[in-house]
Amino acid sequence: MTILVTGGAGFIGSNFIRYVLANSASHIVNLDSLTYAGNLENLSDVEQNPRYTFVHGSIQNKEFIEHICLVHGVTGIINFAAESHVDRSILSAGAFIDTNVQGTLVLLEVAKKLHEKGQLTRYVQVSTDEVYGSLGAEGAFTEETPLAPNSPYSASKASADMLVRAFVHTHDLPALTTRCSNNYGPYQFPEKLIPLMIANAIDDKPLPVYGDGMNVRDWIYVEDHCAAVWAVFERGRDGEIYNAGGASEKPNIEVVKTLLQTLNKPESLIKYVTDRPGHDRRYAIDFTKISDELGWKPRYSFAEGLQKTVEWYVANKEWLEHVRSGAYLAYYEQQYGRSK
Ligand code: NAD
Ligand code: TYD
Repeated sequence: MTILVTGGAGFIGSNFIRYVLANSASHIVNLDSLTYAGNLENLSDVEQNPRYTFVHGSIQNKEFIEHICLVHGVTGIINFAAESHVDRSILSAGAFIDTNVQGTLVLLEVAKKLHEKGQLTRYVQVSTDEVYGSLGAEGAFTEETPLAPNSPYSASKASADMLVRAFVHTHDLPALTTRCSNNYGPYQFPEKLIPLMIANAIDDKPLPVYGDGMNVRDWIYVEDHCAAVWAVFERGRDGEIYNAGGASEKPNIEVVKTLLQTLNKPESLIKYVTDRPGHDRRYAIDFTKISDELGWKPRYSFAEGLQKTVEWYVANKEWLEHVRSGAYLAYYEQQYGRSK
């Protein structure tokens, strides 16, 4: 089996490629346009693997993707490629529509054509719990929770989910959707809460906590998310949606204080800052469906996952330095030409 993984140079995609190469005999073609969030250093340990190929390109380029699928004999597609940061979508939403909506449409059209030719067995759309909007103090998102996205990011992901649904219903595309909660772990770009706080704490810089710090996220270690996407790709039912979560709901301030303790840094580094506009208060995931149907559940506790994550960032200061300086971007521009 040859799987086209899009956005594989990003945080979750790179962890997923490593996971699949280690846990299956599949070949992986990684298509990534290498935006600021795409970093081939995330995959330096697998680049020589004969079952792995990197292709530089955008999911918005239909002819190119069709060509890649033909040349490599792609039989499955898993779409991780996205603009993924809420704060960036608040500043400027255009790229989110281009990649997350238009790009997904292109991939679905390619998938449809391949399926009609009998070449494609599966398409998986990697979505997010943020499409469900915000919860009050009680309850958790199920797959039946109505979509109510609040940020331009989550609106773009919800739009993509609607397109997947339409292709399932109209064209009988064997497509499935996963909706996972907040990931953390190695190779996460230090603009998201956990890696940003670790990076700042290491450098004794202030840790910016939005609002009152009491917004709640359900944290999942990235390897557990990778296992969920793989279970859905291999064994999920066509057309279905599967939630995945970490069973680790925490207010942001608790996460930040735990990180400071782990790194042996003082709480005086915490700096409360102006809240994010439209900031969702609480996310929580009911993952009964994937657990009952596919036998998946998260393996890492928050304490274990966070410890591993902190250790990884401390041991990989060079990676962090490269990412923060943007040095890898200049290199890609020289190597591949400007990405989007
Ligand atoms: P990321 O920002 O780290 O990586 C995104 C990757 O997509 C990068 O490598 C980037 O270069 C690539 N990309 C962007 N635009 C592209 C385009 N037009 N064509 C090809 N490649 C392109 O994101 P992530 O955190 O790894 O998230 C991966 C996916 O998982 C996203 O779809 C996101 O919505 C979803 N998700 C993320 C989380 C989370 O907590 N990070 C949780 C649930 C779901
Ligand atoms: P983030 O990692 O951006 O993920 P998302 O917004 O997709 O959930 O943010 C996680 C939580 O941390 C969210 O409630 C916003 C908050 N946050 C801060 O308090 N300070 C920060 O600097 C960042 C980036 C996030």
